[in-house]
Amino acid sequence: MHDFKFRKNELFCENVKVRSIAQKVGTPFYCYSYKTFIDHFQKIQKAFKEVNPTVCFAVKSNSNLAVLKALADKGAGFDIVSGGELKKVLKIKADPQKIAYASVGKTDNEITTALKAGILFFNVESLPELKRIDLIAQKMKKKAPVALRINPDVEAPTHKAITTGTLKNKFGIDLKTAREILTHQEKYPFIKFKGIHIHIGSQITKIDPFVSAIQKMIKFLETLKNLGVTLEYFDVGGGIGIMYYDTPTPTAEEFAKEMVPLLKKTGMKIVLEPGRFISGNSGILVSKVLYLKDNGAKKFLIVDAGMNDLIRPALYNSYHNIVPVKKSSAKRSTMDIVGPICESGDFFAKDRKFPELKNGDLIAIMSAGAYGHVMSSNYNVRPRVPEILVKGKQWEVVRKRETFEDLIKKESIPKFLK
Ligand code: LLP
Repeated sequence: MHDFKFRKNELFCENVKVRSIAQKVGTPFYCYSYKTFIDHFQKIQKAFKEVNPTVCFAVKSNSNLAVLKALADKGAGFDIVSGGELKKVLKIKADPQKIAYASVGKTDNEITTALKAGILFFNVESLPELKRIDLIAQKMKKKAPVALRINPDVEAPTHKAITTGTLKNKFGIDLKTAREILTHQEKYPFIKFKGIHIHIGSQITKIDPFVSAIQKMIKFLETLKNLGVTLEYFDVGGGIGIMYYDTPTPTAEEFAKEMVPLLKKTGMKIVLEPGRFISGNSGILVSKVLYLKDNGAKKFLIVDAGMNDLIRPALYNSYHNIVPVKKSSAKRSTMDIVGPICESGDFFAKDRKFPELKNGDLIAIMSAGAYGHVMSSNYNVRPRVPEILVKGKQWEVVRKRETFEDLIKKESIPKFLK
């Protein structure tokens, strides 16, 4: 499932002792397994091979250049959501014809750059956006490739902040408007309508919502066909959930078993946009214990990573498994594992049974490869932590720890205060 395993009581990432990295780079740091990234990418590709999908890794889940390069070298495409992500994937020489660009708020600049780059398509999320892209394409004397992101109005059972497929959410175009657009394509002379796109949410551990959304789209595609409209691509989005601890989730094959027959029926080219499925279990956050505090009512294990480094527990109350980097025989008790930041939301675990570690011991917060470093911040003037990529016995820092100078270099004292 992933390549973070204990050997003789010591946590290894592939063939590298996690502790030995900590000794060289200090803590906290993110540590990624090359092999896990590639295995998970290939698992998806293999499970859906009957429809020969273009697998576009969701860059938002982990945008480290080394990770992107590793995946691109294995044939991955990319799902992007900003001009910055576009620049990153172009920098590692990704094939533009494997880039899908979603986002409810693309700016003129972003649209222009993506059009110049020759991406596969924009996933267009509203009528005003479509009109804007049409106008920009006209000015550039180009035809803009577009897939309409349809809001299928299906509920996905996940955290409310990451469900996207109902009309209560800001994403995608409702079916009626989409039909109106696609049956009047002549109104948008500089748009090449390539397909449809859906993305119903993230960390979805049930197959049904995907099936319902696809079935809805098949019905919609049939209606379109009857009205004389056919399209080339069906982009099914991302959202496949992963195992954060011990609750089993369906495997890629199990998802594919239900989805592939439906997708095949469309006869369309299929695009998938997995993020977390590929990156989630490919990374850990390693942190050092500072203090074990007991206030009489509760115990707190205070570590040197904070919510600014990994915000998922604070933001979504999400569960991450946490292990000592060296298996410990210390007494286990119930405690909160928390960071040094000045708010109560700064926690990694609540009421967790955990060994009473001491100052200098290392812990690993598991399944932190997706939406980990990418969502980190400098809150409390804390430098962003380094990222390490391990491949077999080799490892390298693929993003350096920020320095205090990095943190202040864009700031200045105005003349009127001097
Ligand atoms: N495609 C689109 C259009 C998306 O918006 C997303 C994620 C994905 C693909 C990839 O979804 P995945 O396969 O990773 O579930 N920060 C949250 C997750 C936000 C997901 C946003 N969109 C978290 O930490 O759980």
